[in-house]
Amino acid sequence: MSSCLLALETSCDETAASIVDAEGKILSNEVASQIDIHRAFGGVVPEVASRNHILHMKRLVDGALEKAGVTLKDIGAFAATSGPGLVSALLIGSTFAKALAVANKKPFLGINHLEGHLLSPFMGESEIPPHLALIVSGGHTMLLDVEKVANYQLIGKTRDDAAGEAFDKVAKMIGLPYPGGPEIDRLAVGGNINAYPFPRSMMEEGNFEFSFSGLKTSVLYHLPKVNLEAPQVLQDLCASFQESIVEVLVKKSLAAAKLHHRKIIAISGGVSCNRRLREAFTQACAKANIELRLCQPKYSTDNAAMIANAGWQRWKLGFESPIEMDVDPNLPLYQAV
Ligand code: KG4
Ligand code: ZN
Repeated sequence: MSSCLLALETSCDETAASIVDAEGKILSNEVASQIDIHRAFGGVVPEVASRNHILHMKRLVDGALEKAGVTLKDIGAFAATSGPGLVSALLIGSTFAKALAVANKKPFLGINHLEGHLLSPFMGESEIPPHLALIVSGGHTMLLDVEKVANYQLIGKTRDDAAGEAFDKVAKMIGLPYPGGPEIDRLAVGGNINAYPFPRSMMEEGNFEFSFSGLKTSVLYHLPKVNLEAPQVLQDLCASFQESIVEVLVKKSLAAAKLHHRKIIAISGGVSCNRRLREAFTQACAKANIELRLCQPKYSTDNAAMIANAGWQRWKLGFESPIEMDVDPNLPLYQAV
């Protein structure tokens, strides 16, 4: 394998293209975010997302090739996110990558978006060590035991809202713009984490499921009693809410690592950008003598470099997907693609 791989990501509201070389080095990572368009609706509108993917895809692919300093002749395989995500959005990237693969007579790889996140703390590393993985994004909260590439065992996931979804919904309740996670992160800096006694759910020993809807309801019940116009109140509320989520994630991840005898915890997904989460995991892992692998913030929220990295990992192991492979809005991670 001497050539590069081009990967596309269109599972939600980011149109993205990336090129990785034969050694796993990311040569380009182009992203066109639609956040400003969807902000007006308070969330992602699928029809609007797919139309914008079509508008931007060709430009992004051309930009990714140019920035990488390669041409289509240097691309040995084409990858795209096949799920989970919005069907109409997934179809744009997947169909575009398949068309390129057919036209250039090269293999196509359908990649699970969550595998992109999962492997993103190990960008370009030729060996993925066995580890405990926590994926915390807008759509998913999951603990997995990772033996090697394409061998993932689910330990626990959320029963209701994902961690990022809870951030976004609470942010909306208190009048912050979408996406709310970064806003709460910013406001929480000056706040008191103990100001409000928000619940931590499912904390019994051996329970690795998550539930954040009770926390969200608890915040809602507090709102009539507080004055959000007062900056300190808003900061305290954000800090206390954020702490509830972070504490649950830290405790469950460390307990799962212990149970599965893993000495490495790797964290990925948009919420892994959260400053308090990074700080709390750093302290807890140091204390438990566990190596912590945090995804770099630039690869945490949706991007195509993580899909290129997962595609590269699979391609070098000989995986490829049939060209008739469908997209799947609920594609499970622990049934390898
Ligand atoms: O991984 P991602 O881009 O999308 C999914 O695949 O779902 O994650 C987006 C999520 C959003 O819910 C956003 O609010 C959250 O990640 N997020 C954060 C932070 N940055 C992004 N949540 C908390 N703190 C942050 N700094
Ligand atoms: Zn994602």
